Amino acid sequence: MKKKELKLLENVNTVAISCRQWGDTGKGKFVDIFAEWADIIVRGTGGDNAGHTVVFNGQELVTHLVPSGILRKGKTNIIGNGTVVYPKALVEEIIKLEEKGIDCHNLKLAHNAKIILPTEILLDRLKEVSAGSGKIGSTGKGIGPTYTDFVGREGLIVNDLLNPTFFREKFKRHLKYKLAILKTYDSELIKTILDHEHLESGFYFDSENYLNFEAVCEKYLAYGEKLKSYICDTDSFVRSNLGERKILLEGAQGDMLSIDHGSYPFVTSSDCTVAGLAKGAGLRESDIDLSLGIIKGFYMTRVGAGPFPTELGGEQSDSWCNGGKINKAMEKALYHSTPKIDGGDEFLEGVVLRIAGNEYGATTGRPRRTGWLDLPLLRYTLGFNSPDLILTKLDVLNDCDVIKVCNHYKYTGENCVYAGQKILSGKYLETAVPQSEIMKFCKPIYVKFPGWKCDLKDCRDYGDLPEELKHILEFITKETKARPRIISVGADREETIFL
Ligand code: GDP
Ligand code: IMO
Ligand code: MG
Repeated sequence: MKKKELKLLENVNTVAISCRQWGDTGKGKFVDIFAEWADIIVRGTGGDNAGHTVVFNGQELVTHLVPSGILRKGKTNIIGNGTVVYPKALVEEIIKLEEKGIDCHNLKLAHNAKIILPTEILLDRLKEVSAGSGKIGSTGKGIGPTYTDFVGREGLIVNDLLNPTFFREKFKRHLKYKLAILKTYDSELIKTILDHEHLESGFYFDSENYLNFEAVCEKYLAYGEKLKSYICDTDSFVRSNLGERKILLEGAQGDMLSIDHGSYPFVTSSDCTVAGLAKGAGLRESDIDLSLGIIKGFYMTRVGAGPFPTELGGEQSDSWCNGGKINKAMEKALYHSTPKIDGGDEFLEGVVLRIAGNEYGATTGRPRRTGWLDLPLLRYTLGFNSPDLILTKLDVLNDCDVIKVCNHYKYTGENCVYAGQKILSGKYLETAVPQSEIMKFCKPIYVKFPGWKCDLKDCRDYGDLPEELKHILEFITKETKARPRIISVGADREETIFL
């Protein structure tokens, strides 16, 4: 690593990288970069709902559950206790990585991570299909029901894959509880969902009991055989290396998707803040020496449903992106068939931003909703985090004439009470309120800045950056008390500026 990078890491043994927005901010790129320094890389939360992209030698690689540190030879990569693991997805991810010549020998899987069962994927999808306008836009990977079952004491853990008797007993009990719920749904719908390749193309379907007990046991125990060489006590391993070897924690999703701190109920079901990350990796938050938060600069994205105050095109963009039919090719055609984008049509500006930033989900391919950087939201997430920030994707705004930064909200909903305080209609808010019922009535008040209108790809030092960009960065720093440490001007490892 270079001198400046090493300065940031002086006296540091444990680093955490997590996101201060709604995910997809470039965690993959930075975990890969810091994995050069680290000996051990640990994913602490979430499951294969995550999609983390690493670009190296012009090639793109997306990891879902395996930490993005896997690309660096000789490092130990760990899937920690706080994660939820779909054995089929993990086995397939390892095979894919190995086919690309990436060695997964040093991968470790926590014996006490939670396993995702077919029932949980089925229930996730049934709930979404039946929710109508109440959909949260789940990735359909069974994440919510798996965490719910764990807390509700009806779940299974990775270790059960290695003990057929435990597995069969626990799964039998689990299935008994779930059957009562499954019976409230249409069996044809259940059959259609189970026909999906992700659910072994109908292998689990049973016309009487919906899920065939023996079929699930057969597959899961076979996956257990394939995964057994990776399964161990990762918590003890991580703790015994604390302070001795360099440890890097890889966050998934983002603070605003945290079950505890996000825009509930439009969140995932794990605590994706740094506190949840540390716990899910077998550590405490206080064990972390350097906690880096990532945001997109100076815009943001959201996949799935939920409030998004600065969304370009508002409800039109929300229903367009969540309508289920849009892909990048269609959006490019729309863009080219539009005679002139004069900056007056926010919805089209959002489409242009999505195309420029290639904002299509790394896991589901869904278009990500796009909007300007939201400082009330950043003030909120920085409230429970260190001020150290990484800003990515600045190059995406190279062509913008005007860049808007939301510095305040105007609340336009009914008078309400939040945390014992009255929020009256028309009130200005400096810090976001995580409740979605309130957030959806927060209208952004923008400060406008001239764009830099030049290419950033060769910038490698703060001094190389255009004055217009520095001016916005200074404004954000002053307004939020953030401490920018790294700036990213391209997807490649090299396209990075350490401040
Ligand atoms: P993650 O979920 O936080 O790891 O992020 P994703 O991989 O889902 O999405 C981030 C996308 O932005 C990926 O396609 C990255 O390759 C890309 N990326 C990361 N940093 C930059 C950057 O500075 N500029 C550009 N143009 N792309 C970037
Ligand atoms: P990474 O780690 C962006 C979103 C989904 C949905 C909500 C709940 O790549 O940043 P779930 O499948 O967990 O029940 O979905 O959370 N979501 C993400 N959005 N990036 C992610 O991961 C996400 N993982 C889940 O779109 O709105
Ligand atoms: Mg992602």
